[in-house]
Amino acid sequence: MLTREENEKLIRVGKGTPMGELMRRYWIPAVFSKEIAAPDCPPVRVKLLGERLVAFRDTQGRVGLLDERCPHRTASLFFGRNEECGLRCVYHGWKFDVEGNCVDMPSEPGDTNFKHKVRIAAYPCVERGGVVWTYMGPAELKPEFPELEWAHVPEPQRYVTRHIQECNWLQGMEGGFDTSHLAFLHTGTVDPVSPPQYYEVVPTDFGFVCGSGRDAPDGQIAWSANVMAMPFHKIISTAPMGAHVWAPIDDENTMNWSVDFNPTRPLEAGEMQKSWNHNYIHTENIPGSDRAKANRDNDYLIDRALQASGKSYTGIRGLGIQDCGIQESMGPIADRSIEHLGISDTLIIKVRKLLLQTVREAQSGATPPGLNPRSWRVRSARFKIPEDADFMHMVDEIVRVKDKAAAAE
Ligand code: FES
Ligand SMILES: [Fe+2]
Repeated sequence: MLTREENEKLIRVGKGTPMGELMRRYWIPAVFSKEIAAPDCPPVRVKLLGERLVAFRDTQGRVGLLDERCPHRTASLFFGRNEECGLRCVYHGWKFDVEGNCVDMPSEPGDTNFKHKVRIAAYPCVERGGVVWTYMGPAELKPEFPELEWAHVPEPQRYVTRHIQECNWLQGMEGGFDTSHLAFLHTGTVDPVSPPQYYEVVPTDFGFVCGSGRDAPDGQIAWSANVMAMPFHKIISTAPMGAHVWAPIDDENTMNWSVDFNPTRPLEAGEMQKSWNHNYIHTENIPGSDRAKANRDNDYLIDRALQASGKSYTGIRGLGIQDCGIQESMGPIADRSIEHLGISDTLIIKVRKLLLQTVREAQSGATPPGLNPRSWRVRSARFKIPEDADFMHMVDEIVRVKDKAAAAE
């Protein structure tokens, strides 16, 4: 369990909060590039870390991400006209470019220089992996875009979807590193496996590695080592490989980006069926929205007969919906002061401690992990090592991507 104060420190992401400020040191996924595909296309609303924004692509193809509120009298720029290299507010015609400069102020007399004094908050954007990423932190601290492997592979080698989780980001991310739930929530009576016996969390220069191990029949320990890259990325050691990003929309909503990718060849139809049929981490969303069809309002379409039959532990279809549903069921913000944590929660306890430590160190001016783009050349892995071998040492050996070409753009 966490004290109220510790919990607050981890979950709040607004401007000025400890975690919010830490998250603003990293690149954050904002929208799919295809949502603002063409120059001068309609702008789209984006909410990140509690801030209401609009994304647009200007006449020259540059992407802008501006405060949604016009700095004149706060009308929404979502209704704006995207024309001639800027987004024009339709209330009184003020116009802003992708850098946040006010480039036209037709409501004011022509001889005033007022427009040169007005700016709108604008965040820098880059496009990687079919996604527009933004940096919302201090300009002088902006890091290079990390060598996040899935974001650098060509389009046929990746499949990226997203869905909203109506709960705090940390519930999502904790679920991602909580290996003991796999044997229950996702497989349960269908495929009984015992929960892990060993747990390790190793801090690294990109974030940390969570290990869970089981005794193998040959006397060795079979480890699953999961990469967490700061502040909210998971790399999944499946085939095809996978990834999640739990990007906070605000304190009570999270955009869960879900990825399948292959670092060296295009994804093939045979291996994608599970994903395309929404049986894996990807959800089937209400058309035109990021909300899953199976959601809180319909109890995630739980099928009690299926649950009773033993063919499904939950009666909820699809791994992504199972995670989303059970994490939302904890409330928009879980009250971690009333939990009862056991041995199987060791990873969760260690992850929280490390995150708290990272937040505290960042608050006192230390450079947080993950800002060196090359430190992200990592993959999650499964491996077996003798019982007396040190997991901590193996991690560095195994999760670093040796084939640097694969990680490069
Ligand atoms: S509120 Fe935007 S121009 Fe007046
Ligand atoms: Fe899960």
